[in-house]
Amino acid sequence: MCGIIGYIGELHAGGQTDGKESSEATDGGKFQSVGGIVHRGLKNLEYRGYDSAGVALVGPTSGLTVTKRSGEVDGLTVPDIPDATHGVGHTRWSTHGPPTDANAHPHTDCVGDVAVVHNGIVENHETLKRELAGHEFTSDTDTEVIPHLIEEELTADPSADLLTAVQRVEGKLEGSYAICAVREDEGEIVVARRGSPLVLGRGEDATFVASDVTAFLEHTRDVTYLEDGDVASLSADGVEIFASGEPVEREIETVTWEADAAEKGGYDHYMRKEIHEQPSSLRQTLAGRLDADGGDVNLDVSFPPGFLADLEEIRIVACGTSYYAGRYAAQLFEELAGVRATVEIASEYEFGAGRTPDRTLVVAVTQSGETADTLGAVRRANAAGARTFAVTNTLGSTVTREVDGTAFIRAGPEIGVAATKTFASQVATLAMLAVAVGRDRGALAAADARSVLEDLQGLPGAIQQVLDDEEQVREAAREYGDSEAFFFVGRALGVPVALEGALKLKEISYDHAEGFAAGELKHGPLALVTPETPVLAVLTDGARAAETMNNVTEAQTRGAPALGCVSAGDEYDTLDVAFDVPDVGIVEPLVANVYLQLFAYHVANEKGRPIDKPRNLAKSVTVE
Ligand code: G6P
Repeated sequence: MCGIIGYIGELHAGGQTDGKESSEATDGGKFQSVGGIVHRGLKNLEYRGYDSAGVALVGPTSGLTVTKRSGEVDGLTVPDIPDATHGVGHTRWSTHGPPTDANAHPHTDCVGDVAVVHNGIVENHETLKRELAGHEFTSDTDTEVIPHLIEEELTADPSADLLTAVQRVEGKLEGSYAICAVREDEGEIVVARRGSPLVLGRGEDATFVASDVTAFLEHTRDVTYLEDGDVASLSADGVEIFASGEPVEREIETVTWEADAAEKGGYDHYMRKEIHEQPSSLRQTLAGRLDADGGDVNLDVSFPPGFLADLEEIRIVACGTSYYAGRYAAQLFEELAGVRATVEIASEYEFGAGRTPDRTLVVAVTQSGETADTLGAVRRANAAGARTFAVTNTLGSTVTREVDGTAFIRAGPEIGVAATKTFASQVATLAMLAVAVGRDRGALAAADARSVLEDLQGLPGAIQQVLDDEEQVREAAREYGDSEAFFFVGRALGVPVALEGALKLKEISYDHAEGFAAGELKHGPLALVTPETPVLAVLTDGARAAETMNNVTEAQTRGAPALGCVSAGDEYDTLDVAFDVPDVGIVEPLVANVYLQLFAYHVANEKGRPIDKPRNLAKSVTVE
């Protein structure tokens, strides 16, 4: 996830070295330069994951100096600007445009008078770019429209200052953003927030702004969290905050977290933080892509004319959690796009006889874009002459260079080894792709598409309701966590969720857990069922709940406790624990999955497992 840091104040003594060396405090407690302080802030943000970094420094004589590059913060040489008074910095996690030097932040206007760093997505950037005809753009990013819009305001009204210009521009941006802007001749940093966090650090000698407190925690623990719609000016005179153009007061709070806890947003583990991030990461996945009125999606992907209409098969290849996302998606492709869809574990995949390469779309689902087994499958598909496509979280990853087209899931970096938020964003992205293919092939009526898009729109809110119910899951984990083994069952869209629920639990708690199609219980696994083997069932819409419940009853008859994720309004009195799943149609099993993620987390946590780094497992497996 992108990171922001900004600093203005008197902590620096006046620099004489590059930012890297001067990012250490001297004996007098002073840092040598503004660049050093900003560079140190970027180092503190590294844990969030990033692919590029940059800074903008401003001084009365030196003016505005921007330095940026793709790659690590350590490789960024912040220039020696002795008179710099303030600066902003950014670590970028690519969403629009690959991780190149040009796409790194800060971005500037045509004349290099204004520099901006930005987190979030400007959904209407294409429209705004068209309105900015005549401006010179040098990157592929959505962000770059912001400095050019500020330039427009400053040119149209020469009496306007940076604060006024940002206030005016803010009204034109759609989507989510946290912005920091600086200008050559102005001694202030102007910041704005909508939908993407920004926090001010209120030190005695300095004011900071950052995407999270870890960036400046070593300097001050007194913070002000900005609210959506706030615009603030940070200058030598202090902080002024405005809402709807009017000055407002915002509370100053004292942070008690240590840096390690702050990196995890106050959670004990990245995994729990990432489970809780799902409403916001999903909003980012969906942002600007749903045309609810038209019943269509805009995924920014294109296929040769006639290719989708003639398609015989979509073949998904993936590993681990991504494979289960593929299993979910295959059912959506068949239902929504009217095309045969199959899923293959990537390491097992061969193009296979009886298939027509130019009528097959091979879709590689991979969070990292680097999994060797998945890349191997893509290469075999390419060699057979099939059209290939990737659904990934990682811009610039190897898979994106080897396929014919890519859709990004925009979930932000995932640090916990066990995939959580990326599973939800993979399924959501694949669901959008299924709608796009269905509409293109004429297999999906606009009204039916609209209903799917409504379900998707309801997903972040529904997941939030599950997260608000976490205490119930913690109690269930305490009660059943010490069992001998766990079985997860579901039907239809409930099957991949059952498989994923079992995978999550075994990965992080080291308990024996298996997922089954519920109907298969009676064909073997039932022999293992005892009062010491709880059954966790997906009993939602899309998972053929009533039939699944029959199978659950078979297990209960053998003494197994039964825990079910149940659609709102349905009641199964015999369940030992019922988790309520809000009504969101085709993505309800995906919401149920959040209960299973929390269950796995709390079982593992009770056992004191190293949740973020389970034994023997790696986040990205780059060997076959
Ligand atoms: C590893 C990770 C899993 C992940 C799988 C596929 O096994 O531990 O969490 O699901 O790789 O990774 P990918 O990056 O291709 O989605």
